[in-house]
Amino acid sequence: MSRRDDLFAYLLLEHPRSLRGVQEARDVDPERFDRVADRFLGWAEAARGADYLSACADAMVRFSNDVILAQARYEATGAYEHSSFDHCNDEVYGKREVMDDYLWGVFLTNFCWAHHMEISAFYEDRFLARLPASPAMVEIAPGHGGWGVWAMHTRADASLQGFDISPSSIAIASSVAQAAGVSDRVTYTQRNALDLSAMPEGIADAVICSFLIEHLEQPDDLMAVIGRLLKPGGWAFVTGALTAAQVDHIYEFRRESELVLMAEKHGLRVCETLSVSPKRILPKAKFLPRSMALLCQRTTHGFW
Ligand SMILES: C[S@@+](CC[C@H](N)C(=O)[O-])C[C@H]1O[C@@H](n2cnc3c(N)ncnc32)[C@H](O)[C@@H]1O
Repeated sequence: MSRRDDLFAYLLLEHPRSLRGVQEARDVDPERFDRVADRFLGWAEAARGADYLSACADAMVRFSNDVILAQARYEATGAYEHSSFDHCNDEVYGKREVMDDYLWGVFLTNFCWAHHMEISAFYEDRFLARLPASPAMVEIAPGHGGWGVWAMHTRADASLQGFDISPSSIAIASSVAQAAGVSDRVTYTQRNALDLSAMPEGIADAVICSFLIEHLEQPDDLMAVIGRLLKPGGWAFVTGALTAAQVDHIYEFRRESELVLMAEKHGLRVCETLSVSPKRILPKAKFLPRSMALLCQRTTHGFW
């Protein structure tokens, strides 16, 4: 049995109500799902040991249920529950027992949520395929590390510096990189993303910044950091959530254009975008939760 089969068998037994959504994710692109699932689950097994499947699948189901409940509260109140970064840092990012579970859950959503499977395809086909030779990469807020480790696994000539505010992220991303056999080309440092504005300009051929921007009080400052770190002509893969509540989402993006304009303001040409939503949403929902991916290129000397 493949790890994919193990995952489906485990969900059937322990979380039958989650099975339909994961099957929908596989239906997006069965060949890609099987390849990505097998790889991600293999890294999880090497990083976590024998209980990897129950630990990760349970975490993914818990995380998904929390997201549904947060969205229901958002529908009722019209606002995200929290607006303070310090609160999220104290209650989520800084708490190992909370954050470890959260990150392993998110790790699986990259292929177990159908709309995030579409983002994974965009990442592989549109971003990874464009990387130049021997790319020096920066990953801002790697969380579980899956995106950057995927890039390192695909490109043996690449190197990566990752920065995340959470100690859980540094530990888990490091363990995933080790499991994937790429740790000699990767460093992870605990640091606030906004402090990266102090780094030298133009050090990166490519930047990955996935699902951080909606976690910040001043998202514009993050886009400025991405623009600053990229070399002219360098590529960024940026994702963000719109009208999609989560315990630590504090900046409510409502329109795709907000992200596009923010990127453009900081010298990023938005070459391709993808905005996707879950297959099923709450009945009578006012808000359509979306995840948006942007493929941006640092303009050269201000020419668009
Ligand atoms: C939803 S997770 C995203 C993980 C991963 N990038 C992904 O796309 O699945 C958000 C991550 O942002 C990190 N984070 C939140 N605020 C941050 C900040 N100000 N600086 C650096 N990392 C931050 C959290 O610790 C967490 O790892």
